[in-house]
Amino acid sequence: MDIHNTPSSLAQTLRDRRQRLAQLCDTPVILFSGCSSSRNFPANVFPFRASSHFLYFAGLPLENAVIRLESGHMTLFMDDAPPSSALWHGEMPAREKIAQRIGADAALPMAELGSKAEGSATVAVQDADTHLLQSQLLKRAIALQGIDLELASAIASLRMTHDAAALEELRLAAAVTLEAHLSGMASTQAGLLEADVRAAMERVIIAHNMTCAYSSIVTVCGEVLHNNHYHHSLQPGDLLLADVGAETANGWAADVTRTWAVSGKFSSTQRDIYNVVLAAHDACIAKIRPGVEYQDIHLLAATVIAEGLVNLGILQGKPEDLVEMDAHALFFPHGVGHLLGLDVHDMEDLGDLAGYEAGRTRSDRFGLCYLRLNRPLQAGMLVTIEPGFYQVGAILNNPETRSKYQNVVNWERLAQFNDVRGIRIEDDVLVTSQGSEVLTAALPTNADAIEHLVKG
Ligand code: GLY
Ligand code: MN
Ligand code: MN
Repeated sequence: MDIHNTPSSLAQTLRDRRQRLAQLCDTPVILFSGCSSSRNFPANVFPFRASSHFLYFAGLPLENAVIRLESGHMTLFMDDAPPSSALWHGEMPAREKIAQRIGADAALPMAELGSKAEGSATVAVQDADTHLLQSQLLKRAIALQGIDLELASAIASLRMTHDAAALEELRLAAAVTLEAHLSGMASTQAGLLEADVRAAMERVIIAHNMTCAYSSIVTVCGEVLHNNHYHHSLQPGDLLLADVGAETANGWAADVTRTWAVSGKFSSTQRDIYNVVLAAHDACIAKIRPGVEYQDIHLLAATVIAEGLVNLGILQGKPEDLVEMDAHALFFPHGVGHLLGLDVHDMEDLGDLAGYEAGRTRSDRFGLCYLRLNRPLQAGMLVTIEPGFYQVGAILNNPETRSKYQNVVNWERLAQFNDVRGIRIEDDVLVTSQGSEVLTAALPTNADAIEHLVKG
């Protein structure tokens, strides 16, 4: 970790965040960064990723560290590395130096946390060892209830909208992500493997000393929504769906999808469906502004897709009626997007606490149940807009589904589009006081422009 490679304004940003938390929550708070998990022997570990709640207030991806926050004051608990560790890991900055960098008011060894933990609120960390340590120190189960729920709600309300320092990081992640997509498009050629294109994309991210914000999806089987296999060779008639996003060294994410033709040229059927998805994408972005319900954006995407499929003769009926009966979800089964910030699917470690307005719960409707965000938009929120079209065998060949939608799908017409497995177009959209700003707008979405970038 290079603690000097952080903006000098970091400490002030973190102080502001702590002050804002203190206004919402008067219970003392302890937040754990977590520890790395071993693969086989202790020194061979999976890459460490600090807890995002810790990162938000502590700013640096410290391992095995805890911060205690009370009335805006911060104490850093962390052990200095033992002298023996320098052989394997090099010299580590001392606790006092790190504390200074992040504007902590005090710095103490971990052993002193025990007596100061009692009565504090916390948020569960993902790794099992730290989760156990949390409950041992606090002498209770760690769950989203009581003071922990109050804390999680306060943190969610702060992380819901982004301050200037966060936006600077998010813009960096977006810029590197765009470069990665351009590299993926330029590298695409029939005969290569999906893995080759993935490598061309992730190379850019790694070369900027960033990591991937999630497991890259680079696949000719775009209908498998979270496909993490890369072994297929690219055939000239294939579409390639690439959902790849960078994460800055301090943890801020981007999340972008483009779909292109391996040959460089969309077939007429691929182009027709691509333009339906693009129309939904553009219509949704045009509607984004404070006060608009995100669920209405999702329903708009569903309606534009239904309308486009009616125009192509794949669906039959009035678009609004088709959406009412969830016919759009045969081809667009997921939500139109989610919050983005320190995590892709930001704050989903808190379940739907951040994504759903208080008092709202998930719908059990096929066309709404995967909606991850259901609250009015506010200036400063960053959301993804990612409509798609997929031909998922498990949905379209299900006998019950086929009989339920027998009269609204023209199955013969649909068969003519069998060179379209999955298309998604995903951008990262900041809600502004006037409307929106697409942080990833520099990467074209228009079919002609994509063809120009992918020469095949
Ligand atoms: N990359 C995962 C998603 O788009 O939600
Ligand atoms: Mn996404
Ligand atoms: Mn994505």
